[in-house]
Amino acid sequence: MAILVTGGAGYIGSHTTIELLNAGYDVVMADNFYNSSPEVLNRLKIITGREIPFVKCDVCDEQQVENLFASHPEIDAVIHFAAYKAVGESVEKPLDYYQNNIGGALCVLQAMKRHGVKNFVFSSSATVYGEPERIPSDESCAANGATNPYGWTKVMQEQILTDLCKSDPEMNVAILRYFNPIGAHPSGLIGEDPNGVPNNLLPYVAQAAIGKHPSVRVYGTDYPTPDGTGVRDYIHVVDLARGHVAAVKKLAEKCGLVVYNLGTGVGYSVFQVIEAFEKACGKKLERNILPRRAGDIAENYANPTKAREELGWVAQYTIEDMCAHAWNWQSKNPNGYKE
Ligand code: WQD
Repeated sequence: MAILVTGGAGYIGSHTTIELLNAGYDVVMADNFYNSSPEVLNRLKIITGREIPFVKCDVCDEQQVENLFASHPEIDAVIHFAAYKAVGESVEKPLDYYQNNIGGALCVLQAMKRHGVKNFVFSSSATVYGEPERIPSDESCAANGATNPYGWTKVMQEQILTDLCKSDPEMNVAILRYFNPIGAHPSGLIGEDPNGVPNNLLPYVAQAAIGKHPSVRVYGTDYPTPDGTGVRDYIHVVDLARGHVAAVKKLAEKCGLVVYNLGTGVGYSVFQVIEAFEKACGKKLERNILPRRAGDIAENYANPTKAREELGWVAQYTIEDMCAHAWNWQSKNPNGYKE
């Protein structure tokens, strides 16, 4: 039996593919390379020593998705990563985000129904908590408070999955709410390779460290936090990937619908992350203090108790590991996967 990883050539999809193979699962990867590179497939072959079955597929194209499932009857679970994920872009192009993210998920879920596939892991986000009801956020916090169309696509997909599981008791669905994934595979062969100028903190800091930017942006120093800058729960992408393996194992227990936060339970400020990265790269980075970024919240970090108790999963890597591995990837791949 095999796990279909949609968006498998992406940042989290590629790291999850490795951890699935390490755990003894067979994997079929699908991607349309909209926000990823075919070079990732070469890197995965080097890391795993295996030719991983891959299908170029746009998850919004019903015929392509049907062909994917028809040609891989061994698929018995799906981890669905394929989606647009830029918060700012979602504000500018909401229709594209609703069409692609919700349309793609529906296309995959309909194909699963036709082919009798009952196991689904959904890539959700802590952004569904919006301005969190309480900190640390636990899974019982209100999860319908997104502050941008990207986040609303996650809220709406969670509702779709809730309704689906009510209609079909044979469905097993794990909704995984990521906090802030950063870092890279320790080999430095795969990592985060954003299109254009990164919106997120860590990839921008990493690019500044190799000289692509003259300074690092600090969006606001007047938040009600210990040092005035935003606090987030940064989680190593390999820990996040291992959380998906734990979720796949949980689905095998015929668990129905389950929801888990994937975070470390520790919050770090922007200044703390910059300092950790300076230690990792051995360089001093100039700080460009800017006004708050529209839509940002002051603080959020996970209560990861439920995943620990029900999945037996705990994030292992420290912020120092995350920065060291991110620096290893960035310094070895100054232009990401582009030649
Ligand atoms: C982190 C902190 C910024 C950039 C978003 C999405 C979330 C997920 C991760 C997709 C904030 C500050 C940022 C910079 C800065 N994405 N910052 N300078 O906004 O917490 O989460 O990305 O799944 O769904 O909402 O992440 O890295 O953009 O910001 O000071 O150059 O760093 O204000 O406090 P965010 P981020």
